[in-house]
Amino acid sequence: MNVRVGPAGSGDIDEIAALETAAFPLDPWSPNLLREAVGGLVPTMALLAARSPDDGVFAGYAVVSVVDVDAELQRIAVPPALRRTGVAAALLAATRALAAERGATRLLLEVREDNVIARTFYDRHGFAELGRRPRYYRDGTTALVLSTPVTMDP
Ligand SMILES: CC(C)(COP(=O)(O)OP(=O)(O)OC[C@H]1O[C@@H](n2cnc3c(N)ncnc32)[C@H](O)[C@@H]1OP(=O)(O)O)[C@@H](O)C(=O)NCCC(=O)NCCS
Repeated sequence: MNVRVGPAGSGDIDEIAALETAAFPLDPWSPNLLREAVGGLVPTMALLAARSPDDGVFAGYAVVSVVDVDAELQRIAVPPALRRTGVAAALLAATRALAAERGATRLLLEVREDNVIARTFYDRHGFAELGRRPRYYRDGTTALVLSTPVTMDP
């Protein structure tokens, strides 16, 4: 799917919050937290939204924070009906560009060990395992910490 990725605005919040709840039901970010992040109240954090350039249909979002040389991809999600069409790849490319612009050299993330789909996606995009955090999630699942150089996108 052809998408345009740009900074999320207040008009994106309802759709981001709905997808957040559907994609991360165990620990969704609240609309208030998303609103603060979009409003620039968390200076290290940036939200990106993907939309169809033709009809403006919402196609997903990513949240990244950058502190010094480390960027962290905190969220990435695409509505189920639009998955497997390259939207997350476009969001990741925009995340890399933003992180590089802010001076980061490394892109980190945490992923549930049982999230095979996301792990396949990250593997394909050059992420390597940096470490593990046993029982990191509330339901006892281990978190894998993955890392990739910011500027590399194979
Ligand atoms: C993970 C996620 C963001 C991927 O989004 P996407 O837009 O479907 O990804 P893309 O289309 O850009 O990339 C597709 C690639 O990812 C991997 N992938 C995606 N869905 C897959 C699936 N169901 N089975 C196996 N591999 C899959 C494959 O490598 C695939 O490439 P291929 O289609 O050529 O085989 C999406 O599945 C999602 O929103 N999941 C729920 C939220 C989530 O788990 N986020 C990550 C938290 S760490």
